[in-house]
Amino acid sequence: MESLISLVNKIQRACTALGDHGEASALPTLWDSLPVIAVVGGQSSGKSSVLESIVGKDFLPRGSGIVTRRPLVLQLHKSDEGSREYAEFLHLPRKRFTDFAAVRKEIQDETDRETGRTKQISSVPIHLSIYSPNVVNLTLIDLPGLTKVAVEGQPDSIVQDIENMVRSYIEKPNCIILAISSANQDLATSDAIKISREVDPTGERTFGVLTKIDLMDKGTDAVDILEGKSYRLKFPWIGVVNRSQADINKNVDMIAARHREREYFADTPEYKHLAHRMGSEHLAKMLSKHLENVIKSRIPGIQSLINKTIAELETELNRLGKPIAADAGGKLYTIMEICRLFHQNYQEHLDGVRPGGDKV
Ligand code: GDP
Ligand code: NA
Ligand code: MG
Repeated sequence: MESLISLVNKIQRACTALGDHGEASALPTLWDSLPVIAVVGGQSSGKSSVLESIVGKDFLPRGSGIVTRRPLVLQLHKSDEGSREYAEFLHLPRKRFTDFAAVRKEIQDETDRETGRTKQISSVPIHLSIYSPNVVNLTLIDLPGLTKVAVEGQPDSIVQDIENMVRSYIEKPNCIILAISSANQDLATSDAIKISREVDPTGERTFGVLTKIDLMDKGTDAVDILEGKSYRLKFPWIGVVNRSQADINKNVDMIAARHREREYFADTPEYKHLAHRMGSEHLAKMLSKHLENVIKSRIPGIQSLINKTIAELETELNRLGKPIAADAGGKLYTIMEICRLFHQNYQEHLDGVRPGGDKV
């Protein structure tokens, strides 16, 4: 049976591909009922580093200033052991990237294409899929970092524009928030906590991630935060140690970095008792498990939306009649096929759920 998350990934991609056409009004509703994970935090809090450790690959543009200027929707697909890793952009179908430095370059170029090489931001997302035996099935959205001041060449409105863009993603109830704060700054000043608290006051769908634990002042530690005593969320906080800028300059690879991170938590006396639930590998596994549980709990709701979508698509196809544009028609059929697959595969989950018990 195909994994739940990868089926949902397919539906999301099909919805996106159809986005431009907007044939069926049920599609946006369907998209909003599927869970996504968005990464939020202040500039340089370590968002890109956390994403890269989850993927286990070096592929994101970095540097100082606002590097991420468009949302990046990143879909991870676990492939069979031994198969070759590759990446694919939605805007470049059929082009397979096996060189991840070229992926980074394409993200930069595609950002510039939309924003015209200025330091402007755009809310039009870039869609990237990565296929690898070394990832867990997940959909993650990287968002521009929250900032307090505009820099040279940027309009003053950029601070508010970024905040509004981030909020538009995380205020939706289907969004799981990965809130990134760095341990070498006071948690009370964390942009991630500030904005996630606004949209999710009870912490039902917020995962707190603490970066830069290795950079804390001597004599201080993050135990209170990691034990949930400083700021309580429904889910346990996760600490990570990403590569430092010096590591990146020295090309320390991700495998070595993960290994060192594991050792750091296991060997530091303060964190030993928490080591089993710290680190990027644990974060990736926990997010994937959580995503699967969320999808399972929503199957009845997703199912009924899918039925509605199929019905609308059929009506739409009939209305358009036979001489339909091959492109749009093909995509409509694709999404209908995926919806049917979902229907066939997950009927049994439906049978196990009490009627009307769950809702989207
Ligand atoms: P972003 O702006 O939030 O995407 O932050 P980046 O991931 O680009 O990280 C900003 C800088 O902090 C980079 O130089 C990283 O190498 C560094 N960094 C991120 N996380 C850690 C960490 O856990 N430990 C250390 N020592 N450096 C980190
Ligand atoms: Na950065
Ligand atoms: Mg970044």
